[in-house]
Amino acid sequence: MQKADRLTKLPPYLFVQIRNKIREAKERGIDVISLGVGDPDGPTPGHVVQALQAAAEDPANHQYPTDEEKGMLRFRQSVASWYRDRFGVSLDPEREVLALIGSKEGNHHLCLAALDPGDLALLPDPGYPAYYASAVFAGAEVERIPLDRGDGYLPQLDQIPPEQARRARLLFLNYPNNPTAAVAPLEFWTRAVAWAKAHDVILVNDNPYSEIAYDGYRTQSILQAEGAIDVAIEFNSLSKPYNMTGWRIGMAVGNPELIAGMSQVKENTDSGIFNAIQYAGIAALEGSQDSTRALIGVYQRRRDRVLEALRRIRMLPDTPKATFYVWSPTPEGKGSIQFAADVLDRAGVVVTPGVGYGQRGEGFFRISLTVPDARLEEAMRRIEEAYA
Ligand SMILES: Cc1ncc(COP(=O)(O)O)c(C=O)c1O
Repeated sequence: MQKADRLTKLPPYLFVQIRNKIREAKERGIDVISLGVGDPDGPTPGHVVQALQAAAEDPANHQYPTDEEKGMLRFRQSVASWYRDRFGVSLDPEREVLALIGSKEGNHHLCLAALDPGDLALLPDPGYPAYYASAVFAGAEVERIPLDRGDGYLPQLDQIPPEQARRARLLFLNYPNNPTAAVAPLEFWTRAVAWAKAHDVILVNDNPYSEIAYDGYRTQSILQAEGAIDVAIEFNSLSKPYNMTGWRIGMAVGNPELIAGMSQVKENTDSGIFNAIQYAGIAALEGSQDSTRALIGVYQRRRDRVLEALRRIRMLPDTPKATFYVWSPTPEGKGSIQFAADVLDRAGVVVTPGVGYGQRGEGFFRISLTVPDARLEEAMRRIEEAYA
């Protein structure tokens, strides 16, 4: 088959390459431990599974989802209450909330709703690879804006070249950030909103890690910045706080015109989320949050173990305040692909090369904390031994 041009414009999806490398090493008989992919290792909380079971038994839920692409009003109300309680942000569930098949879907459908061929999208470098694909699928042009360690991995918006700022239609941001684990204070969101208004740019915060934060740190929503609703949309997800990556449920919240545009794209693309999964989502958002609190305790312990091990072998990552990633410089500025290959050869451990997230990720690698304690412990023991 001759592929469409839009597919040939994509770099190979990073995690597919990693999966291939793991398979090859396993075929060579190596007991590979992958710290490559951010997919929680724990089960979904029992009360959420039970809510799915009960809803799946009800034939009323076996037809196309209620309110189809928008999501059930009851789910959208639950999201609105959660945003009010968690961030103090008030949302109209009818116009400012949309159910998503995960935040990844949101990125993609927003681009189809907001970008025309030739429009310019600004993406962070380093950044989550799906932003690039989403923009390219919409026919947009892409410029990368640098995130530097010295700036806490926050973009210096006033340094975006005037020509880019003038042409830009949309700016993707993502705090807490994958891959760098950086966070954004409210003061940054306030500046970002002012910049977006001045340049008539749509502001996106992809926020699926909002609940994975450590040492008592509370992350903030872009919608807490005054006037954000005029220009901004935020994606959030049940994937990470409730170990629900496989369920595919999340939400878009924010500017009502952007929500309506996405809804129109979805109406012509998918028919929404199985009602039973939405009922389970309500149970997750409205039920006990004890399991999320426990999860954060587990990741925090793992984070500390990884930091301790890396620092002992003279790699000096910052201490993450949020996300379940540790982002570290490679030793002696080694190329990140070369270093990741070296770790696989010498320790049988997969880490993600930073360059997979963009040129500015070169010289860094990412470790995901989503592997069981004993395996993580073993992986760090092997890395320490290999680089002692
Ligand atoms: C920045 C970012 N956005 C979106 C996603 C996808 O999340 P979801 O499962 O909600 O689609 C991920 C998952 O790793 C991510 O890191």
